[in-house]
Amino acid sequence: MPKFVKWVPTPPQLINTFFELAPVTADDVVYDLGSGDGRLIFTALEKGAKKCVGIDIDPDCVNTAREAAKKMGLDQQVSFIEGDVLEQDLSEATVIFVYLIQSGIAFLRPKFETELRPGTRIVIETYSVQGWKPVKVIEAGKRFFYLYITPPERTPDYDPEPSNTATEFDWWYFP
Ligand SMILES: C[S@@+](CC[C@H](N)C(=O)[O-])C[C@H]1O[C@@H](n2cnc3c(N)ncnc32)[C@H](O)[C@@H]1O
Repeated sequence: MPKFVKWVPTPPQLINTFFELAPVTADDVVYDLGSGDGRLIFTALEKGAKKCVGIDIDPDCVNTAREAAKKMGLDQQVSFIEGDVLEQDLSEATVIFVYLIQSGIAFLRPKFETELRPGTRIVIETYSVQGWKPVKVIEAGKRFFYLYITPPERTPDYDPEPSNTATEFDWWYFP
């Protein structure tokens, strides 16, 4: 069960970039893969998403997010799953947010390719998907945000078996 990165929150001023790339409506089921304190999930709910699910492997993160949901009286409207994103069924998602590391995204790509329904929007902070052409890229806060829509267009360098270099614990420092 690889832990791809520690909790490093998306800065508050960059949260909206996810929603600029993938506007959320009352028809959307939003997943955040590695949901941390739940900030993207709470914002998705505020924006009117039908269902919001955060998944995180770190029990402290999950507890923090669940406590925050309870305090805000939102615990019936959002759910936070403790577990590895690779082991969760993502098929109901219409919008997926990801802020992990490159190797985590390499692990996730086959899952995205087989599990997600056509038209699912994936927004990834900082890292791109090897071999997929983004539909749109935004630069904000000195980092890039990538939008993909399934099924994505493949780039000429698409590697059917991208190397997965993540070890049991991959730490990445974000200044
Ligand atoms: C960079 S933080 C992003 C947090 C949040 N999405 C945000 O943007 O503020 C990455 C999160 O992913 C979680 N994580 C790392 N590997 C994971 C895995 N294999 N499955 C689920 N969560 C994971 C970490 O515990 C951490 O909370």
